[in-house]
Amino acid sequence: MSGPLWSRLSDIPRLLWARSDHIHEKHIALHRKYGVVVRLGPNCVSIGTPSAIPAIYGTGTNLQKSDFYRVLQPLAHGRVVQGLFNTQDEALHRALKRPIAGIYSMTNLVSFEPYVDTTIRIFLQRMEEQQAKQPTVNLGAWLQFFAFDVMGEITFSRRFGFLDTASDVDGIIDSIYRFFSYGSVIGQMPVLDRLWAKNPLINRFLPSKNSSVVAFAVARANERQAASEKGTVTDDYEYNSRDFMSRFLETRQKDPSLPPGFLTAWTTSNVQAGSDTTAILLRAIVHFLLTHPASLAKLRHELATARAEGRLSDVVTWKESRDLSYLDACIKEAGRLHSPVGLAMERVVAAPQGMEVCGTHLPKGTVVGLNPWVVHRDKRIFGEDADEWNPDRWLRPKDEQRAAMERSLLTFGAGHRTCLGKNISYLEIYKLIPTLFARYDITFETPDEWKLVNHWLVFQEGFNVTVRIHDEKKDVEK
Ligand code: HEM
Repeated sequence: MSGPLWSRLSDIPRLLWARSDHIHEKHIALHRKYGVVVRLGPNCVSIGTPSAIPAIYGTGTNLQKSDFYRVLQPLAHGRVVQGLFNTQDEALHRALKRPIAGIYSMTNLVSFEPYVDTTIRIFLQRMEEQQAKQPTVNLGAWLQFFAFDVMGEITFSRRFGFLDTASDVDGIIDSIYRFFSYGSVIGQMPVLDRLWAKNPLINRFLPSKNSSVVAFAVARANERQAASEKGTVTDDYEYNSRDFMSRFLETRQKDPSLPPGFLTAWTTSNVQAGSDTTAILLRAIVHFLLTHPASLAKLRHELATARAEGRLSDVVTWKESRDLSYLDACIKEAGRLHSPVGLAMERVVAAPQGMEVCGTHLPKGTVVGLNPWVVHRDKRIFGEDADEWNPDRWLRPKDEQRAAMERSLLTFGAGHRTCLGKNISYLEIYKLIPTLFARYDITFETPDEWKLVNHWLVFQEGFNVTVRIHDEKKDVEK
């Protein structure tokens, strides 16, 4: 198996790559140099082809998540909180997922739409207030405020208050950012986490560590419990009986054997796994459209036509957006070129005899994973222009190549640990993006301003854009 010489001896090189903030670029370069199977560490292998997806993630394979995910388990009062996303324990994962998976299904989706609408309206109102003061807004920050507040709204019937205050309430965004920043680097050598952050001996002498997301989730659960005892409305808390929290509480009422800690695990997963990811994909879509004027013109033409034919509401509905095929292609292409997850999703070979992947034998205990940033640039699947933005690739007839492209997308993961909130995030994205581009003229204040920072999620920093109210009539005439 090939790879850099030092990677045979130590995990330090991959820790240093992660510290560089550009590990996704390093992984792409390593695969282009060494081929499909690349050694990243003495016991860690990256696979660079989608053909390995079924073997590593397929339902029925029993590869568990690696210790990387243990590093991503937050602490509350000094104790580890395992959630749906970060647990390595498959029995716990099944117990956590089975009672609530249906809540995230496509059929349930429309019941969440009114909460997304409420947050979109606040978002538009706040953008317009800002625009009245000065045309340049940091759209990256506003999209993040939106994505966090919408999760607060659909989970707890309560926005965090990011949009209302235009600030990072209780430092939640910053704390998740620092958490992923720590996890992405230390996750390359998880033993360091055991020795330091999760070392019970050290923790005994330090003030008890508490994740602010977990603290927020617990506070909302307590608030809700109090509100439920008094009825649906208290002096300061009106909640909707169909939000996630209500459904989670109903689930526990139906099966009281479910531990109370599950409520925290479920609600925390929503905020931790669903906010920054959605914000990153929203930003990526806006970025690619603004940097590719021909695409932007096509999308705006699609939106203007739909509006002229009465097929587009002011706040675009989920149903309306499903008929916008160019929008659909742009969203898929942005997820391909800028997958929010930018590291390999690591699993551990479990079979005593090891396993064969792409002609290479991996012994039991090998950590193996696929990085979406590598796989999504496979020219055999996506074509010679795999490095380029080209939404039209998703509009080709539904032939074998198109099916292979669909199978190769890892934007939302794969197999039984695939993203539970994909439908929810699509609901937000398929509504907000057309609403935004049908309503505003959006241009970059200064191009090329964004900087990518890979902390497991590939964050974009600095995203100043000019937003102007859109002249609808002019566009319809085009
Ligand atoms: C664009 C938005 C999103 C992206 C790109 C995304 C991506 C992913 C990926 C790649 C995984 C699998 C990680 C792995 O195998 O290690 C995952 C898991 C997960 N995601 Fe998402 N996600 C998004 C939005 C959401 C939302 C909105 C929610 C909640 C409402 C959510 C909840 C979860 C949960 C609970 C898991 C763990 C599932 C399990 O292990 O059973 N995600 N997500």
